[in-house]
Amino acid sequence: MHRTHTCGELRAEHAGHSVTLSGWVQRTRDLGGMTFVDVRDRYGLTQLAFNMDSNQALCLSARKLGREFVIKATGLVKIRESKNAQIPTGDIEIEVTQLDVLNASKTPPFTIEDNTDGGDDLRMQYRYLDLRRKPVQLNLMLRHRLSIETRKYLDGVEFIEVETPYLIKSTPEGARDFVVPSRMNPGQFYALPQSPQTFKQLLMVSGYDRYYQIVKCFRDEDLRADRQPEFTQIDCEMAFVEQEDVLQTFERLVRHLFKKVLDVDIDAFPRMTYDDAMERYGSDKPDVRFGMEFVNFGPVTQGQGFGVFDNTEAVLGVVAPGCANYTRKQLDALTDWVKRPQIGAKGLVYCKINEDGSFKSSVDKFFAADKQAAWAAHSGAKAGDLILMLSGDLNHVRRQLNELRLHMGSALGLRDPKVFKPLWVVDFPLLEWDEDTERYHAMHHPFTSPKPEHFDLIDSDPGAVRANAYDMVINGVEIGGGSIRIHDKAIQARMFDLLGFTPEEAEAQFGFLMNAFQYGAPPHGGLALGFDRLCSLFGGSDSIRDFIAFPKNNSGRDVMIDAPSPIHNEQYDELYLRSTASENEE
Ligand code: AMO
Repeated sequence: MHRTHTCGELRAEHAGHSVTLSGWVQRTRDLGGMTFVDVRDRYGLTQLAFNMDSNQALCLSARKLGREFVIKATGLVKIRESKNAQIPTGDIEIEVTQLDVLNASKTPPFTIEDNTDGGDDLRMQYRYLDLRRKPVQLNLMLRHRLSIETRKYLDGVEFIEVETPYLIKSTPEGARDFVVPSRMNPGQFYALPQSPQTFKQLLMVSGYDRYYQIVKCFRDEDLRADRQPEFTQIDCEMAFVEQEDVLQTFERLVRHLFKKVLDVDIDAFPRMTYDDAMERYGSDKPDVRFGMEFVNFGPVTQGQGFGVFDNTEAVLGVVAPGCANYTRKQLDALTDWVKRPQIGAKGLVYCKINEDGSFKSSVDKFFAADKQAAWAAHSGAKAGDLILMLSGDLNHVRRQLNELRLHMGSALGLRDPKVFKPLWVVDFPLLEWDEDTERYHAMHHPFTSPKPEHFDLIDSDPGAVRANAYDMVINGVEIGGGSIRIHDKAIQARMFDLLGFTPEEAEAQFGFLMNAFQYGAPPHGGLALGFDRLCSLFGGSDSIRDFIAFPKNNSGRDVMIDAPSPIHNEQYDELYLRSTASENEE
């Protein structure tokens, strides 16, 4: 028998029991007369004690154990002389009578402890060792809990999980496809799904009524802390619903998860329109854990002879509470921060509302104190506050000020990862104009329904059409998004036309869906939650990588297995890749 208990199980009440534990050697301490070995498994850590006087041979072999050796130890549970309140098994130790080395280990390239000395790259290369560390294990257990609770909840309200294929035809979600060559169909390729969007809609046509799937999606896009090329969605679809039904259902799911997994009570989610979110926070995923809402300073700054403000579309600002005491150095640092290429502002105007009621701004030469007093009155800034303003094109300023607001929120400690503020952002535009390609793109995806009351605008003013589309945003992170779908063939065809598809292209790519719409498609809608993002939010981290067992690095590589990697010449031939490439060149 390998073990009678796990390494996290034994307590004072087990004293006197004979037990066997198996696990990995975390640490060996040789104190002369006594040698202590900490043995670890997924469940915890237990101290093994070896006494030189009572069993010299055993004690000597314990001293030889290296870190990460796999061992089996049998002995008696004893109450410890000096207890360790830090760990649950800290009251006891095992007085070992038999020790077996089940497998030796090379010295690991970094310490397998909560605070490891291993850098990112090394830990990714030896991910299987990093996964032994407690914080990473806790992350994966949190992920497991969330998936179990999601399944329980959705099962309880009649959703059924249906698997959809991975080898499909492109489903546009705004990224590039990963493609897979087909050996049996020379020169032809499958695309890996960016999401199961079209399949879940077909399941609604088939009458499944409530579908969900915890599913891998694949997107070839630039990576960030909250993006991986393969990631997981809780993907859902419902028939015979309106937007309100979808919002209610998934708000309940997420509140259930907060309660069950974190024991946190969440109030009903507030709703904010897309236009409001952009105006008040410059972002369609506002972090509403803190205020500092945008103030339009145009009316109190423009037309007063200051060229930087006069010759520009927008002057927007935020009030940083209690920051009037910022030093010159701090203000210069903030200015440099907004001028970095990632933010791209030309400069930053500040105005301190000093405690004594006086003002000090970076533009004192152009605006006298009474003007600055008007800014304070306009924005509600109080004595002790600092006004920060940016100017330029509206869209640029919104984006830049959003970054600055978040930066200040973090600097002021207003973004506590243990506080959760969800909201629904609703009424997204149906289309978004793309300057580069000079045409409209679907803001969500091409299957999203315009608001029925906006059907008339589709021809006259497509940019003004709003969609029945919504995002779930928590703490400034887009956790999920969805929409009510088009279920009418003619409207779907019009949508493809707006997006620049010829009827032939639309037919070739999405004929199957439009055909299906002719066989009794019910009204339907749904959403997908980014499961990795949900896990990292619950775990209080910004990086989804920490919650994925085997993630890719920022270049999309798995450095442990070294993928992607070249393929053999024969594979090129077998898959007709060489001839396809040269045919395409001709
Ligand atoms: P969308 O494209 O908004 O919608 O994706 C839904 C959610 O998936 C998460 N997400 C990602 N997570 C990690 N890495 C990525 N590369 C990544 N891309 C997206 C986000 C996002 O909110 N089919 C539609 C849903 C629907 O309409 O029902 C869709 O995929 O949290």
